[in-house]
Amino acid sequence: MKVCCIGAGYVGGPTCAVMALKCPDIVITLVDKSVERIAQWNSDKLPIYEPGLDEVVKKCRNVNLFFSTDIETAIKEADLIFISVNTPTKTCGNGKGRAADLKYVESAARMIAEIAQSNKIVVEKSTVPVRAAESIMHILRANQKPGIHYDILSNPEFLAEGTAINDLLNADRVLIGGEETPEGHQAVEKLSWIYEHWIPKQNILTTNTWSSELSKLAANAFLAQRISSINSLSAVCEATGADVSEVARAVGLDSRIGSKFLQASVGFGGSCFQKDILNLIYICENLNLPEVAAYWQQVIDMNEYQKRRFSQKIIESLFNTVSDKRIAILGFAFKKNTGDTRETAAITVCQTLLEEGAALDIYDPKVEPEQIIDDLTHPSVTESPEKVKKAVQIHSDPYSAVRATHALVICTEWDEFVDLDFKRIYQSMMKPAYIFDGRKILDHERLQQIGFHVQTIGKKYQRTGLLRSWGIVPQL
Ligand code: NAI
Repeated sequence: MKVCCIGAGYVGGPTCAVMALKCPDIVITLVDKSVERIAQWNSDKLPIYEPGLDEVVKKCRNVNLFFSTDIETAIKEADLIFISVNTPTKTCGNGKGRAADLKYVESAARMIAEIAQSNKIVVEKSTVPVRAAESIMHILRANQKPGIHYDILSNPEFLAEGTAINDLLNADRVLIGGEETPEGHQAVEKLSWIYEHWIPKQNILTTNTWSSELSKLAANAFLAQRISSINSLSAVCEATGADVSEVARAVGLDSRIGSKFLQASVGFGGSCFQKDILNLIYICENLNLPEVAAYWQQVIDMNEYQKRRFSQKIIESLFNTVSDKRIAILGFAFKKNTGDTRETAAITVCQTLLEEGAALDIYDPKVEPEQIIDDLTHPSVTESPEKVKKAVQIHSDPYSAVRATHALVICTEWDEFVDLDFKRIYQSMMKPAYIFDGRKILDHERLQQIGFHVQTIGKKYQRTGLLRSWGIVPQL
């Protein structure tokens, strides 16, 4: 079997790499319209960082895994084609700011219709609104050449960035939606056969196309909802003296609830949660279900509130002004083990601090400096890109980032931040020295003993560091 995947991004890349690893009998060609991206996939420095990805790519590349910009040949030769292109939120027109923009999916479908000379199974791997497969089918069938048959399947991807390889190797489930016709069932069987190379058959769920499409939106909505739920309680904790970690532990031990995704933080980011919930909201509004739309809107609103609340806390703690203060930002990616910055909470935090006149020293182990500058000078973030460039310095080492700063802000939960030498950091910072732990990863007691003022999410600390530095042992 020959497989082609259109879209060599965070999903297409790792998915095809693992598929190639586990299916030596299948030839997979991953194509993209971006010449630069394909060149990177064919180089030693892959375009995305994912733990374990390099090894898999090196093993399979040019054996049964190929990266190419020759979309036409790949489509022509493939029996099965994954569409794994981006589906961002629309930025203009009908549904602006909510609906998924399907222009890339549509353009992929049109390319297939134009190029195909034999039967194809077209698999929608991108996250799409319910009934998007119908639109793809419409395009394909309207442009159908005589004798060519298309089957459309929905096969949403559930991997999480940062753990993509493990998620793909040990998927909780693979979901395949298809048409309820004999041909549809055959197409589902063919795709299922690929996954059966490494996924136990009982973990491969088959359903109708619409349920499959909606399940992906539902899964992301549920995951984001848990984060917003615990984040909402973090505000209650800070106002009452409760500790959100203790609350999360107590709640999570209930087997009906479970402990995963109950970590309070500065807010969720990433390319998917917000986009997919907005998409769900848009669908609900169009289906005349305003109560359902309003329910899910709250998940987004709470996340915005959390990001703003954390940024405000920094400013208030620093005597209500950060103007001309240097602030170190540790971590810019939306989560650890990825270099992806799409919708990262760090952008909101940096934006707020920059607007208030702070100078920022930013360090992230995996995000390219140009990416950080691009994000912070984007028209949606600032009207004065030149001013931002002057106020931001990117560092390649955390110790140089924190030197002579008034405060250190943790925006991403990178493991390496836990093991930093905080005594050394304290020495090099301005006093009083503040730490704002937006990810709750540091040992706050120890930091206070060193002399830091610590602020975090979901737990109120007294100004113990300052009192201790005056020789007063505070009564907690
Ligand atoms: P991405 O932006 O990293 O990659 C998409 C790629 O598609 C880009 O390289 C782009 O150049 C290429 N592309 C767009 N139109 C094309 C065309 N007509 N021909 C050839 N190449 C084309 O996006 P990512 O993150 O891989 O997401 C892809 C889809 O998977 C989205 O629908 C997303 O919602 C979904 N998804 C993403 C997850 C994630 O963690 N990033 C997880 C699960 C699903």
